[in-house]
Amino acid sequence: MDKPAVASGVSDQAQPSSSGAVPAFLLDRHPPKDNFAADVLEGLAKPQKQIPPKYFYDARGSDLFERICQTPEYYVTRTELKLLSDIGPDVAGIAGRDVTVIEFGSGSDAKIRRLLDALPSPGAYVAIDISRAALEPAIEDLARDYADMSVGGIVADFSAPVAVPHDALSGGRKLAFFPGSTIGNMERSRARQFLADVRAMLAPEDGFLVGVDLRKGRDILDPAYNDDAGVTAEFNLNVLRRINRELGGSIDLGNFRHLAFYNETEGRIEMHLRSTTDQQFEVAGRQFAMERDETIHTENSYKYSVAEFALAAESAGFRVMRTWQDPRSLFSIHYLAAA
Ligand code: TRP
Repeated sequence: MDKPAVASGVSDQAQPSSSGAVPAFLLDRHPPKDNFAADVLEGLAKPQKQIPPKYFYDARGSDLFERICQTPEYYVTRTELKLLSDIGPDVAGIAGRDVTVIEFGSGSDAKIRRLLDALPSPGAYVAIDISRAALEPAIEDLARDYADMSVGGIVADFSAPVAVPHDALSGGRKLAFFPGSTIGNMERSRARQFLADVRAMLAPEDGFLVGVDLRKGRDILDPAYNDDAGVTAEFNLNVLRRINRELGGSIDLGNFRHLAFYNETEGRIEMHLRSTTDQQFEVAGRQFAMERDETIHTENSYKYSVAEFALAAESAGFRVMRTWQDPRSLFSIHYLAAA
């Protein structure tokens, strides 16, 4: 088989082909590599050390994340998948025919397939993902399996507004799609800004389907981020491995432990890497010291009540058309309409 012809970062112009087996375009707007170095050096110099969570997702990190989704404790993915199947006809009824689905993150393609299969003849699909390694195979697979639909990808950091080329759009509504409660990984004020950025990409009548994990008890939340098999721990530690490899780090992974807990006041899971000893290490030629039990904060996962999320969406210029949740009220999916 020939390799699919993919335009890779050569221009800002999409090269649409209305249908057929290979992606119509792949725009590479990857942030410059030295952002990783700068962000890590800046984060490690703070009083509460931190590493931005977007750097989790190198090839191994993306793979480990897929495995987290299969652990028995991590209810998020399977609950959302089941809910997506159940609400498919409702979503299709609201969205209509010939939509352009714009997905933030190309994650596990089970979710997008469930959505595309529920929609009546979707016209186009555009994935936006920070990882080219994850994006490229994902859109190639979708282009092959949905030959009647135009498929494209944009390699970009969607924590800033991303321009979708006009000629990548089909005739119907735009339907932005942001599953996985990834919006919960943003600070609450950032999430409101993100909602406003998405709103700005949409015209009246366009929609935004977003999955949001719900506030709930520690009995369910703590285990979800501390699976017995240690996959989440590996995922968390992997960012240090990446620093060692890509930034010439000398970090001994044996001196760190995964730490994740629900901070009820803030309504968020906090993930940290805890130093088990007084230690020093080097990153990109710079020396850092950590005391025993000092942590590097690696991620937050904010949880929302339905009312809390509706308020955020409305303040960003959306109208909540529908909200669905599973029978145990673990997870919610919202259909927001551009107001
Ligand atoms: N956004 C999801 C969540 O917060 C997925 C996720 C992101 C995640 N980073 C993670 C899950 C780290 C487990 C560990 O749940």
